[in-house]
Amino acid sequence: MSAVRQQVLVFRELPAAQLDRLQAVHEVCVADPRRPEQRAAFEAALGRAQGLIGSSYPMDEALLARAPALRVISSISVGVDNYPLQALRQRGITLCHTPGVLTETTADTVFALIMMSSRRLLELALHVREGHWQRNIGESLFGRDVHGKTLGILGLGRIGLALARRAALGFGMPVLYHARHEVDLAAEAPELLGRVQHRGLDELLAQSDIVAVVLPLTAQTRGLMDARAFSRMKPGAIFVNGARGAIVDEGALLQALDSGRLAAAGLDVFATEPLPLDSPLRCHPRVTALPHVGSATLETREAMAEMATSNLLRVLAGQTALASYPL
Ligand code: DGY
Repeated sequence: MSAVRQQVLVFRELPAAQLDRLQAVHEVCVADPRRPEQRAAFEAALGRAQGLIGSSYPMDEALLARAPALRVISSISVGVDNYPLQALRQRGITLCHTPGVLTETTADTVFALIMMSSRRLLELALHVREGHWQRNIGESLFGRDVHGKTLGILGLGRIGLALARRAALGFGMPVLYHARHEVDLAAEAPELLGRVQHRGLDELLAQSDIVAVVLPLTAQTRGLMDARAFSRMKPGAIFVNGARGAIVDEGALLQALDSGRLAAAGLDVFATEPLPLDSPLRCHPRVTALPHVGSATLETREAMAEMATSNLLRVLAGQTALASYPL
């Protein structure tokens, strides 16, 4: 480790053990720009920071221009859509993230949304909780099977593969996927050979009973699920988003739900987060909405914080990060 204590700005709550690791070797300021009372401290610390660590806050180009000494950003997330990649590249700032440690947990969350939406679990749980279970439920509250249905996955990276394993090996589901490149299943996931097939986007939408999005948000995927895409889906299909809200045109999704084209949607992410109270998606009877909790278990959030802290410490010490995003 370098003997020179550097300036670190922590812009989101960090577990005490990780904060201790940072404070042992650097000068650390914890200031969350989302809290009005911490905004001034955040801005002052930004002006001297060599390292930033945090997540879920848009660090745009204008903000970074106020961090002239910055060398590294360590994001406690796998997604890097909150950062201006081109500006970071131009300034030679390293961007680290936390792939791998959240894969299985996020795939669990997406699969839970598939189950909740297909089997109408939120509605049924509320039926009991609100005291409506006075006699056996009838067909009007029956859900749809998940096992044996065709799952279409948009994006077959780490999380997509983990989701495909759950579906194909656990639930006997034929799995289709759409991604920029065909995945070499023989090398990456031989257990899925013959069970997972690549398709063009329109073909996948037309053939899937359930469509799940696990793509990163990029210029190419922004707005990918628009009115045209929803109109290609099977009538009565289920739509699940565990990636980023901006991949979906929410107006088009609502229209597809209200017209009856889609049976239900399970959403962990939204165009605006937290979801505004007046969003029609919040209380829609056929939407299961979660507060962006794909990776939010005690174990996984701890692993992410630990990996992000190691990334930051390593780069500030002139070492290679455990995972830096290729800029
Ligand atoms: C991630 O790791 O990208 C999660 O979505 C949290 O932002």
